[in-house]
Amino acid sequence: MFAMKIALIGADGQLGSDLLRTLRDERLTPLYYPDFDITRPAETRSVLSGLRPDVVINTAAFHRVDDCEDLVEEAFRVNAFAVRELARICRDLEATLVHFSTDYVFDGRSSRPYVEEDPPQPLSAYGASKLAGEYFVRAVCEKYFLVRTCGLFGLAGCLGKGRNFVETMLFYAEAGRPLRVVNDQWVTPTSCEELAARLAELIRTDRYGLYHMTNEGRCTWFEFASAIFELLGRPGKITAVDSASFGAKARRPAFSVLENKQAKALGLANFSEWREALRDYLRKRGLI
Ligand SMILES: NC(=O)c1ccc[n+]([C@@H]2O[C@H](COP(=O)([O-])OP(=O)(O)OC[C@H]3O[C@@H](n4cnc5c(N)ncnc54)[C@H](OP(=O)(O)O)[C@@H]3O)[C@@H](O)[C@H]2O)c1
Repeated sequence: MFAMKIALIGADGQLGSDLLRTLRDERLTPLYYPDFDITRPAETRSVLSGLRPDVVINTAAFHRVDDCEDLVEEAFRVNAFAVRELARICRDLEATLVHFSTDYVFDGRSSRPYVEEDPPQPLSAYGASKLAGEYFVRAVCEKYFLVRTCGLFGLAGCLGKGRNFVETMLFYAEAGRPLRVVNDQWVTPTSCEELAARLAELIRTDRYGLYHMTNEGRCTWFEFASAIFELLGRPGKITAVDSASFGAKARRPAFSVLENKQAKALGLANFSEWREALRDYLRKRGLI
């Protein structure tokens, strides 16, 4: 199989690190922030024009959900306007754009997992900025893969840059700090390693469009936290709270489980159940 020429933006992020490993046999150029910054369009165009990639993968985002409520301009700058520029560059270079979005584009009022055709209705500035990014990609590019995912955990999230949920739970438990975790928001925790593997399959096709890609099953954040300590075989002192008493700044959907309808229709390999993926993560971390 011929090697694809890929530019990977945010190559040392959580998902970026797993993509870098998974796509190691391709002709991949990793791009790192802040040397490469998608909010600087002239430099972004110049670097990508020099590389002439077949595929540009953008994992960059401003995704501190609560901070986005106050820093709404920054959220739109990174998650929407920079993505529009990136889409234009990809169109001009005839490159395929891979861009990631989020379950937080939905309002959580559905009684079944969301499919790609369901109308989005974000509740937060983060969700709105990511949805704007989606719209720009779809408006500008013909060759794009837009992938919505949920609750990512990847090994790079344990390296101290920014902890993922699993590492946050472990850190608080280690420090003897009380854990209060919401029990009224349903999600599907998703392994970056599995997502990277499915993406490697997807970009080998020309079935452009919008895809939901998460592990299988669903849980609340409290159930996810509980599963971590169950698998580790040690009790975690976790208190289940509701979103109102947790008091986060940004509103989050009560139910943002995604159905991988299009990925399944395309015949991509199935994702494992989230608990299996978590077990695998803890094994690779050397914790079980
Ligand atoms: N994390 C989740 O639970 C989750 C859930 C649903 C969807 N998503 C989406 O999935 C994607 C990947 O998330 P992730 O968890 O892998 O994020 P991440 O770990 O924060 O990785 C993002 C990478 O992009 C870099 N970056 C930040 N701003 C940039 C800029 N202006 N220009 C170029 N690079 C920049 C970051 O560098 P620094 O680390 O140095 O800032 C980091 O290397 C994002 O689109 C996110 O919205 C994530």
